[in-house]
Amino acid sequence: MAEVYDNIAEQFKKFHSMLLIQYVITYTYFHLLGDVTEKSILDLACGEEFYTRLLKQNGAARLVGVDISLEMIKLARQEEEKEPKGIEYIIADVAEIGFIDNFDLVVASFVLNYASTKEQLLKMCQTIYANLKPGSRFVTLNNNLELLPDFYHKNEKYGFAKSCASSLQEGIPLTITLIFSSDSEKVSFDNYYLSKATYEWALRSVGFKDIRWHHPVVSPEGVQKYGEDFWQDAIDYPFALGITCLK
Ligand SMILES: C[S@@+](CC[C@H](N)C(=O)[O-])C[C@H]1O[C@@H](n2cnc3c(N)ncnc32)[C@H](O)[C@@H]1O
Repeated sequence: MAEVYDNIAEQFKKFHSMLLIQYVITYTYFHLLGDVTEKSILDLACGEEFYTRLLKQNGAARLVGVDISLEMIKLARQEEEKEPKGIEYIIADVAEIGFIDNFDLVVASFVLNYASTKEQLLKMCQTIYANLKPGSRFVTLNNNLELLPDFYHKNEKYGFAKSCASSLQEGIPLTITLIFSSDSEKVSFDNYYLSKATYEWALRSVGFKDIRWHHPVVSPEGVQKYGEDFWQDAIDYPFALGITCLK
């Protein structure tokens, strides 16, 4: 996994300016996160820093970012050097790192979908749970596991293509291709399919309660700029869902 993102780290910086990410996914994520003022936050699979820095800008007291990719963390550290915000970065596998500290909030956008087995998913959930203070929340974004392959094409107009070689079965790879509209540049990488029931089993097994799945919402700015019709497929066939749960 580390090599995949080591190779696309620079291109991945365009991810957060894609319209679907900007006006739907990021908006939904921060809506679910709520007020982060003065919170200590662990951002697992933080990537090249986009959400990590935004959380710090939104008033979080402490931010620790973890990612398996050396190149992604290099980009994050470069930003930190350019404009220091006191964010700590660690290169590690979420499934293996274990306890770092007790945090008020753990976030981990788009990483659970890299688990290809229920055992791996369980290990990721163990790390998340171990780093949360009792009564605190885990908030994440995840590939929408419930979207059927017949409808994968519905997100292509937003630059998100998804395909799988067979019918949906536990552990099969799902190939995601991001098409950046500015220059038709593409990047592809694999996620893995595990069912919603397996996710709920893993989260519950480590001790999480109040597990909720959240459909995306379009920001008022997105509606104003592009109109409701443009976003209808993003709402009817969501590419990603939010998950929240409580320790
Ligand atoms: C799609 S990117 C998301 C980055 C960031 N969370 C965001 O939403 O912008 C997925 C990230 O997960 C990281 N990743 C994948 N598997 C991981 C693992 N087992 N442990 C730590 N990071 C992992 C990749 O290196 C990559 O940076």
